[in-house]
Amino acid sequence: MAKYCKNNRVLEASAKLLESSTFELNEENDQATAVFMTREIAKNAGFNLADEVMVATAVSELATNILRYASCGRIRVIVIQNGDGRTGIEIGAEDKGKGIRDLKLAMQDNYSTAESLGLGLPSVERIMDEFEIESEIGQGTRIRARRWL
Ligand SMILES: Nc1ncnc2c1ncn2[C@@H]1O[C@H](COP(=O)(O)OP(=O)(O)O)[C@@H](O)[C@H]1O
Ligand SMILES: [Mg+2]
Repeated sequence: MAKYCKNNRVLEASAKLLESSTFELNEENDQATAVFMTREIAKNAGFNLADEVMVATAVSELATNILRYASCGRIRVIVIQNGDGRTGIEIGAEDKGKGIRDLKLAMQDNYSTAESLGLGLPSVERIMDEFEIESEIGQGTRIRARRWL
């Protein structure tokens, strides 16, 4: 299982889970629901409008990838709290699709196997404070990313 982490940092294990919502993704409507609900969750967690939109954009990109490259999967949106009492949103995206051959390449701007923009994954990495992606050919892909308030 290959793994790539933003700033070479794995996610801290200690974050406390406050609230969790899971969105199954099988068709485009499910993506719209996940994006809409993420905005609500982020707003309720205290994110301002701009940050709420950023987190929802990350979910939108990850949902697009799941539907496009793996056909189906799920996204979990979790409200978390770290040891200092700081609130954050954690996005977990996972699928059992074909996986990604070269993670370093996939994380580069403008790399796409679908002849699209190739900016989805790099945008999610930039939007989120913490980001990790694991993938294995034939097994699937798993992403976890956090943005702190
Ligand atoms: N969930 C996934 N399963 C398999 N391959 C993926 C997945 N997500 C991304 N990829 C691969 O990584 C590449 C880059 O993704 P992304 O940055 O979102 O750009 P784009 O979707 O425009 O190609 C995709 O072209 C695809 O090859
Ligand atoms: Mg994409």
